[in-house]
Amino acid sequence: MNTKLWNPSTLTIENEPSIEEAAQLLRDRQVVAFPTETVYGLGADATNEEAVQRIFEAKGRPADNPLIVHVADVGQVEELTEDIPPVAYQLMETFWPGPLTLILKSNGQAAKNVTAGLSTVGIRMPDHPLALALLKQSGVPLAAPSANRSGRPSPTEASHVYQDLNGRIAGILDGGPTGVGVESTVLDVSSSVPVILRPGGITKEDIEKVVPEVVFDPALKGGKDKPKSPGMKYTHYAPESPLWLVYGDDEYFKQQLNQLIEKGERVGVIASKELAGQLQFDRVIECGSRERLEEIAVKLYSALREFKKSDVDVILCESFHSHGVGAAVMNRLEKAAVRTLKQQ
Ligand code: TXA
Ligand code: MG
Repeated sequence: MNTKLWNPSTLTIENEPSIEEAAQLLRDRQVVAFPTETVYGLGADATNEEAVQRIFEAKGRPADNPLIVHVADVGQVEELTEDIPPVAYQLMETFWPGPLTLILKSNGQAAKNVTAGLSTVGIRMPDHPLALALLKQSGVPLAAPSANRSGRPSPTEASHVYQDLNGRIAGILDGGPTGVGVESTVLDVSSSVPVILRPGGITKEDIEKVVPEVVFDPALKGGKDKPKSPGMKYTHYAPESPLWLVYGDDEYFKQQLNQLIEKGERVGVIASKELAGQLQFDRVIECGSRERLEEIAVKLYSALREFKKSDVDVILCESFHSHGVGAAVMNRLEKAAVRTLKQQ
């Protein structure tokens, strides 16, 4: 398949021919990648099983992992769900368009493979002009997981989508680098106390300003609890070379790095500017300040894609605090890591 690349202008979005072309392909049950404020998504008509099946095939995604449905307005939420609790309306009002996915009771209108057989459906309204224009033009809700091959880091630039999916999808709408960098927060509002199934762009602290109580799914800590969000059990975000996550102070990090170098390992480092500034070492990707984890979130996935297997044997990565968006950053790093090194 020939994958089309479009570079639409966001200034003339109302009559942008590439958006109409992409929308037509979506109505013809093809899959198209598009930017959102979090990461690039791989979209297909969420009401059509054949279209949605193409997403699973292009990504190599396990069939039991449900997809998030993207909508242009609250009316589309009501067409796909039933018994929407008042708290869900409050959250939509406060955070949409934005990086919050709500898990609601499905009324069966979404294609079966979107919900992977669950009685619920995850829905969000993305905060990106191209995504919203595409949703409006296509006239259908769009199922869209992150537009990476299953297991790989999520794409934050159109070139990442191209690396993973060229030849496997109908087209890619290029909207430049995404803003948030990590995916949406997945929040289950079907129980009396809302549960965060996946930490993301909207923080627990943000949600607490709107609802009296919100908790993290205990399964996020690992251990034996089964995650309620099926996607959380799979290997994710894996860079080409094994990632080791380091918990400890800067001295401990430097010790671990030196030991590996002495053993002759070709090491790559992912670190904050505070730590990177202390290393006399050339294979370091600096991804922002550890005081502002929003910066780290923006650069995280491109950092995970940067080191190639041919250049490094192991990637050492600094760990960060897990307040605010740090919860999402650390959740992704813990999933990406094959090993952790902990200071005693
Ligand atoms: O920011 C995002 O959310 C991006 C952009 C493209 O919108 N999308 C994204 O989709 O991250 P994906 O498929 O990579 O992750 C969806 C997550 C998975 O962990 C999945 O298991 C969970 O949402 N999920 C979807 N529907 C669910 C449901 N009904 N119940 C529980 N978890 C669900
Ligand atoms: Mg994903």
